[in-house]
Amino acid sequence: MKRLLTGLQPSGQLHIGNYFGALKPFADTYQEYESFLMVADYHSLTSLKDPKALRENIVEVVRGYLAAGVDPNKAVIFKQSDMQEHTELAWIFECLVTVPFLELSHAYKDKVAKGMEANAGLFNYPMLMAADILLYDTEVVPVGKDQQQHVEYAREAANKFNLAYGQTFTEPQAKIMETVAVVPGTDGQKMSKSYKNTIPLFASKDEVAKAVMNIVTDSMQTREGAVEESKVLGGQTVMRHPISFATNLFAIHTLFRNEKELVDLYNANKSNYKALKEVLIADIEVVVAPMRTKYDSITEAQVKEVLTKGAEKAKAITSAKMADVRKKVGVSLN
Ligand code: ADP
Ligand code: TRP
Repeated sequence: MKRLLTGLQPSGQLHIGNYFGALKPFADTYQEYESFLMVADYHSLTSLKDPKALRENIVEVVRGYLAAGVDPNKAVIFKQSDMQEHTELAWIFECLVTVPFLELSHAYKDKVAKGMEANAGLFNYPMLMAADILLYDTEVVPVGKDQQQHVEYAREAANKFNLAYGQTFTEPQAKIMETVAVVPGTDGQKMSKSYKNTIPLFASKDEVAKAVMNIVTDSMQTREGAVEESKVLGGQTVMRHPISFATNLFAIHTLFRNEKELVDLYNANKSNYKALKEVLIADIEVVVAPMRTKYDSITEAQVKEVLTKGAEKAKAITSAKMADVRKKVGVSLN
């Protein structure tokens, strides 16, 4: 079995974009691999300086994965900060790569352009992520497209180390989750906690309903009569802007109900957004309610136990790998 590792930053409340873009794809496929699932808490320190929120978010991420169906006996679930080897190896990589090389990071430039503090952690972020991946001889890294360059950085770090000190690290492959379309937020931009346009995943039904009622419907998208257009392309029927009067609402709705059914429903309720939103709220509830029940039943003590066991398993791998690395770079006198 190939080894897979992925990570999620505990930087905010989980939303349905995180569910369809990260939690669900992981839960659906992790058993095909020897899987490692990491809570990237040190990465989130680059943006989050609120200890209480960080603690809560760490617990939320673990509960989220468990509620989405990940079995902690079948995947190693652990916390980055429990493994000192990650920050230690990141330092060694930082001494192998140059500042101009790190300056090529799109994620860094984008974040700074959006007003995030240009702290040195944010700048070195790709080397910590490289350490996360390479310590485990990871072969497959499932990530969103925005993280692709970070996996390239990990390949490059492996390459640089192997050239300098001899073959040590496996070059990983990114597995880009392209089948998962970007989930739009309530305002039509990508759903993201930074845009405050999310539909929360594990919040109460009322909070979900409130977010759904805020979905922008007809402001810029209304086009009289532009309702259903389908076109045969290469023998396949492709829906083109099936419901132009409520594109965003419709797009979110397709995550929860079959598209053909939705076309009929939306055509029958052309300007009745309230009714359509009520159907969406009910449809979300069908998917989320069982997960929420599971989420609510997982105690903090259980989360801690999962992380402790995960750290033990991960430690066996990282301590052996770092013993070899320390020897190779010359800091180990044994
Ligand atoms: P946010 O944009 O809210 O800060 P993150 O960047 O922490 O979310 O993303 C965590 C994971 O969830 C990543 O794997 C990312 O690809 C996925 N994800 C986040 N938002 C979306 C979205 N709107 N659609 C699809 N996947 C998403
Ligand atoms: N940088 C990733 C993100 O923000 C999270 C992450 C940290 C990660 N370390 C990782 C993802 C290692 C995959 C592998 O989404």
